[in-house]
Amino acid sequence: MSETFDVAVIGAGPGGYVAAIRCAQLGLNTICIDEWKNSKGKASLGGTCLNVGCIPSKALLESSEKYYQIKHKLSAHGITTENVAVDVPVMIARKDKIVTTFTAGIASLFKKNKVKSMHGKGTLFKQEASANTWQIKVDDSGNTETVQAKHVIIATGSVPRSLSFAPIDNDRILDNSGALALTEVPKRLGVIGAGVIGLEMGSVWCRLGAEVTILEAMPGFLMAADEQVAKEAKGLFAKEAGLQINTGINIKSIKTSKNSVIVNYSDSNNQEQILEVDKLIIAIGRIPNTTGLGVKDNGLLLDERGFIAVDQYCRTNLTNVYAVGDVVRGPMLAHKASEEGVAVAEMIMHLEQGQASENEAVDFNIIPWVIYTAPEIAWVGKSEQELKADGIAYKAGQFPFIANGRARAMGETSGFIKILADEKTDRVLGVHMIGPHVSELISEAVMAMKFSASSEDIACIVHAHPSLSEVFHEAALGVDKRALHI
Ligand code: FAD
Ligand code: NAI
Repeated sequence: MSETFDVAVIGAGPGGYVAAIRCAQLGLNTICIDEWKNSKGKASLGGTCLNVGCIPSKALLESSEKYYQIKHKLSAHGITTENVAVDVPVMIARKDKIVTTFTAGIASLFKKNKVKSMHGKGTLFKQEASANTWQIKVDDSGNTETVQAKHVIIATGSVPRSLSFAPIDNDRILDNSGALALTEVPKRLGVIGAGVIGLEMGSVWCRLGAEVTILEAMPGFLMAADEQVAKEAKGLFAKEAGLQINTGINIKSIKTSKNSVIVNYSDSNNQEQILEVDKLIIAIGRIPNTTGLGVKDNGLLLDERGFIAVDQYCRTNLTNVYAVGDVVRGPMLAHKASEEGVAVAEMIMHLEQGQASENEAVDFNIIPWVIYTAPEIAWVGKSEQELKADGIAYKAGQFPFIANGRARAMGETSGFIKILADEKTDRVLGVHMIGPHVSELISEAVMAMKFSASSEDIACIVHAHPSLSEVFHEAALGVDKRALHI
């Protein structure tokens, strides 16, 4: 009989690999099983996030932003440049190197923490009730092994949602993997879906010179964001040369020819339209990945949308089986997946040590969201429309980047920060940002909310001058109508 692990983690994305490391840190004998292979056919840890998600997209966003700045913004600083050109293969190779460095880094972290790493597809096979263990079959290209573990953490992530009439070939019709691996800038790029991927990937290729048209089914734009932020973003993106966002559309058909993709759709006025592009990205959301996991055979419950059903502590209906990350309800974000992974690892440790469980549910209300467009968009907590719908009385303080010295010096003056605080208690209920580097600034807001701070608490903190963080400070002062620089 093979070794029995305390914990087997299926999936090595930010949910799974972080859970595995934390389990091992807590002294649990842990194995992590992952099936990802990169474009070269090599096993590659890190899941969607590292291989075709967060990290590679941010690498390309950074490269394309640098190009855009040189081409369009440096002249205002008195810097002239000539013959600025883009070498897309070099840009892609840089991105690939970052990815391989990080995926190899996870392998080293596993080694350091004594997590056993196994490549292959894991299928929950059966629970050996007498031995109180789960058996997991692991198939690596036809070679099958069985792993035994007392606890199983499923972290199998998500895959792109597809349109049945527009199969992804990653040549003309691309998903996120294809969108991150183009070898030249398409002259005309279409994107279906003005969600997070559509906006980020659209931005990358637009900054590099593509004419980008984004087609969005919803009448509104960035529906999950605060309405005022979404409105500001729409206005700013509309001014961007080479980027068009059409909302309220309905796709009728998508056809590929040798040289192009033709999208037939009706616009928001119900008029038939044709969009012909060289490449088309489909970014219409992601679905939980439970394929081949043995869901039916083991009676693992899914919810009505196909996510593995879990309680607030990520426990499934099966004994000692937990699920975290994109495969369960909640925001599809890497940091949410990791946070759940850590919480489950700690819960298992308590169980194994026979200690009274000190389970802590991950609080989605203080999970930050960031969209890495230019300007960046970030938020945490409730939006104004949510507070209104919930009938919660609130006060708002807002401050624009244009009135901030550092933003002026940087030449990045678009956007604002808005703080929403409870009318009676002054406790911060939500923070909404659009502007430069708000991906970094949002952390202060998350910390404030984690520790139940009031806007007055933030107003009491000295912020360095000149810094972008002063915008957050002024927004807090603004809640009490005492902003100083406006
Ligand atoms: P995944 O990262 O999807 O990992 C799941 C792993 O499990 C994969 O390696 C998969 O191969 C493996 N697996 C699946 N089934 C099995 C099986 N049966 N046996 C063995 N292995 C299996 N989030 C952010 O927070 N910030 C961002 O900036 C951001 N950018 C993104 C950009 C793009 C283009 C995309 C697509 C996503 C982005 N996300 C971002 C979302 C983020 O990538 C996901 O929320 C995150 O990866 C989810 O982590 P996970 O561990 O749940 O799943
Ligand atoms: P999304 O849910 O953000 O956006 C999908 C968009 O497609 C929506 O606006 C939806 O209305 C639209 N849509 C759906 N069907 C359509 C159709 N038939 N025609 C036209 N439009 C249609 O999903 P997306 O962009 O695919 O990203 C998936 C998830 O990945 C995100 O929700 C997010 O959780 C994660 N992600 C996070 C990032 C970050 O944190 N910066 C970056 C990229 C992805």
